[in-house]
Formats: sequence, C-alpha cells, structure tokens
Amino acid sequence: MHRPRSVRDADVAGKTVLARVDFNVTLEDGRVADDTRIRAALPTIKLLLDGGADKIRLCSHLGRPTGEDPALSLKPVEEHLRTLVDDPRIAVLENTRFHPGETKNDPQFARELADGCDLYVNDAFGSAHRAHASTEAVAHLLPPYAGLLLERELDELGSLLEEPARPFVAVLGGAKVEDKIGVLESLADRADSVLVGGKMAEEVEPRDKVLLPVDVVAASAFAADADAKIVPADQIPEGWLGLDVGPKTREAFAARVADAGTVFWNGPMGVFEWPRFAEGTGAVARAVASSEGHTVVGGGDSVRAVQELGLADRIGWVSTGGGASLEFLEGKELPGVVAIPEA
Ligand code: 3PG
Repeated sequence: MHRPRSVRDADVAGKTVLARVDFNVTLEDGRVADDTRIRAALPTIKLLLDGGADKIRLCSHLGRPTGEDPALSLKPVEEHLRTLVDDPRIAVLENTRFHPGETKNDPQFARELADGCDLYVNDAFGSAHRAHASTEAVAHLLPPYAGLLLERELDELGSLLEEPARPFVAVLGGAKVEDKIGVLESLADRADSVLVGGKMAEEVEPRDKVLLPVDVVAASAFAADADAKIVPADQIPEGWLGLDVGPKTREAFAARVADAGTVFWNGPMGVFEWPRFAEGTGAVARAVASSEGHTVVGGGDSVRAVQELGLADRIGWVSTGGGASLEFLEGKELPGVVAIPEA
C-alpha cells in the first residue's frame, strides 16, 4: 500500500501552507448542520499552527455547484471553524468547485491555488478518490505531504485489507447500488461474510459468503407510511417496496456481527429517516457498537445513523470518507494519495 509522507515530517515554521481539507458538510438554513468533517481536520490545523506556520490557506469543495452559487459558499463553514479554532493565520478559500478548472484537474487552476504557498498538505481523505486540481494537480506544484486525518484513514481502512482479525464481516446497504457492486465483489473475496441490506439487496444474486435478507418490511409505493407489513423477502406484493430488513434478518445479521473479529459497515438497511423503517439500520448500528472486534463505519448515511443513535463513540473508527472509503477497499489507488510521494 502507498504510504504518503507525513506532515509530521514537514518543516512548516515560517511557511505559507496550502491545506486541502474535506469541508463538504451539510448546511441547513445557511449554517453547518454536521461539523464532523470540520472537527476531523482540527488535529492537522493545530499541528500546523503549533509548528509555527506563518499562514494556513484551507481549501475545499462544497457540494456539486456548476459555477458560483452563494448557497454553496464556504463562508458558513469558515464561521463555524472560527468557533473551534480562531487564529488570524488561518484563511478559508472559497469553494474550489466554483472554478471550472477544479474538477478538470486543470494545472492552471492548480497554479492559482499554489501561488504564494510553500508547501501543500492534503488532509481531505473524503475527496482523495477525486483527481481534481486541489487534490491532485497541485500536489505536483508544491512539496506535498499527507495530513493526520488522511494518514489515520489509510491506517484504519488499510487494516481491513491487511490481515484483519477473523471472522471479517462486511455489512453493505444503501441506495447507491452502482457505486457498491465493485466493493461487494472485492469484499466477497476478502471477508468471511458480506451482509447485504437496503436497496443493494435487490440487485445482488445469492453467492458464496453473501447473506441476503430473508424478510423485509414492505409498504405500498403510494402510501408507504400507512400500511407497512413484514413479508418474506421473495414475496413482496405487487406495487409494494421493501423499505427495511425484517426481524429475522436483523437477528441473523446481528449474530454474525456479534461473532466478528473485524466489522466494516457502509450503507443503511432501509429508509431509516422514517422511524417505521429504521429498525434494521438501528439493529445493525447497535450490533456494530456492541462488537468486541475492530469496527469501522464509513459513508454519510451509516455515520449519521450511529451519530443519531448516540453510538459513534462506541465505534472503533468512523470514517469521513464515503466514496473514498469504498474505492480504497475495492483496492483502487486514490489519486489524492498517490500524488504524495512515500517518505
Ligand atoms: C464526499 O462527500 O463523499 C466527498 O466530499 C466527495 O464529494 P463528491 O462526491 O461531490 O466528489
């Protein structure tokens, strides 16, 4: 595995540092609704401050704007950051995706970002699977280093690829099925069992090591909250949808998780935003939190579920990466990581 050199080995005293962070957070009414990713960047920011950096320019994308969009300005994020660490040496640049060159990995935009800076620190694990100007091209213009969060994510997720304690149980769910089929294949090779719930389960064929739901909570597509009932997974009535895993499945999944030496979980088991369909996701979250094995949860929705249930501090590692953690576990090289040389 590629281990990029660490910001701990950089001499930042008196330097202007360009730091790529992942401040792609949820905003509500123009305020930061969930600051997990902002807090996750603090150790690197503090290390740079303590190391005597002269200036720290933080850059990030937010959302997927096409051009400038005031609703996706990083200003509310900057205000929030200043409540956590207020130092005049810190500046937060505007959303990198306001510039068309960002997603094109355009060297000219990278030169604008690098202008006046002495070194580059990438701490944006959540965006490391993107070859964008602020994650990739700029790493060729300034001496690049990995931030502390990026390193920790690589260690935690890397431990799942390199000799995980057995049995290794992966739980996959959620709706973004096409993003996850590749990781399912790869995990089916590496893990001892892969438990599949959510919309994913409808697309996956039975195969060795893969456990699919035996029962589901189904509801009419038109009045989903009114008439839910538990049915065998292969007997969903015409015009109904499976919106959560059923009680027999929850029990079977929880038993596998309880026996695991290592657990990786990405993706809810159902439409957990609706209390009626939240039981399956809750059962998996509680099982993962109670596990005595090494546990890693990644992906926005599953992370939100463990947070809402107050279980986040009982998880071994809560990853800040959704797509990035999946691509990493699929064995793909992350452009933002390989652009930084090894020590
Ligand atoms: C994420 O939220 O997964 C990262 O910030 C990447 O965002 P993107 O999928 O818009 O590139």
